[in-house]
Amino acid sequence: MSRFPRRFIDDSSMEDAGISLCPSIHYRPINPNDLDRLEQIHRDIFPIKYESEFFQSVVNGVDIVSWAAVDRSRPDDHSDELIGFVTAKFVLAKDSEIDDLIHYDSSKGEETLIYILTLGVVETYRNRGIAMSLISEVIKYASGLSVCRGVYLHVIAHNNAAICLYKRLMFRCVRRLHGFYLINRHHFDAFLFVYFINGSRTPCSPLEVAMFVVNYMKSGIKSVASKLANKDEKGLKWLFCKDTDCVLPSQTKPKLGSSSAYEFI
Ligand code: ACO
Repeated sequence: MSRFPRRFIDDSSMEDAGISLCPSIHYRPINPNDLDRLEQIHRDIFPIKYESEFFQSVVNGVDIVSWAAVDRSRPDDHSDELIGFVTAKFVLAKDSEIDDLIHYDSSKGEETLIYILTLGVVETYRNRGIAMSLISEVIKYASGLSVCRGVYLHVIAHNNAAICLYKRLMFRCVRRLHGFYLINRHHFDAFLFVYFINGSRTPCSPLEVAMFVVNYMKSGIKSVASKLANKDEKGLKWLFCKDTDCVLPSQTKPKLGSSSAYEFI
């Protein structure tokens, strides 16, 4: 699949980067042959270091579902090389931090959500709709599972490209989590985006707006309170350290009312 860029793409830089003017983008599951390239792209585009256990789980499909984007128009030895990816995992809806937003259907048994872990497209292939197609693959997959109620993710508050992408795909921003990320000893807010599927949620009700405002105010108050209590970096479990001070958020259900708390794996 390939599509016209919606923003400016410099043809000369494409040629410099060895990209055909008419790339042929295909999507497939990630497999063990992708390991090195997957690690390399993560290193290149994320400010945090992922453990090798994570990459092993992705390439072997252990508790993780994933899609790769490749450009078949590249020369043979690169035609199956990753140029983009999305990784995601299943979370039980009742254990997730958005369980309060899910409309449960007791006839459906144990309901799940899909949590997007990482998404990336190498720089030379950006602005061609690849990320949009990768996320669409996740949504399509999730929609085919009758017990799956939605797809959700966190994104750091200053990542405009990713925020625009999720909004464009009709994800709904349901929370702002103050100080959610801790990177190089600095706290950064995150947005929580959800795409509800299989009738799990009705569109924007007044109650939802009210809940958003309440959650936002609660998280703001808690953020200030936690700063006053000077608890910022106490008791955190530090993992995935690149410069020894980068951490990733937890994908598990936080303690009650902890939307502003610092949550880490
Ligand atoms: N500025 C503004 N909007 C953007 C930008 C940008 N730089 N890039 C994408 N978008 C939005 C636009 O709405 C765009 O649609 P439009 O151009 O028709 O308006 C839409 O996203 C789709 O863009 P794609 O071309 O599909 O996005 P791309 O393939 O370039 O990848 C991505 C976007 C994944 C954010 C890429 O820039 C990237 O890899 N960034 C670094 C890693 C990253 O930030 N990953 C996401 C973190 S969140 C997470 O992992 C859960």
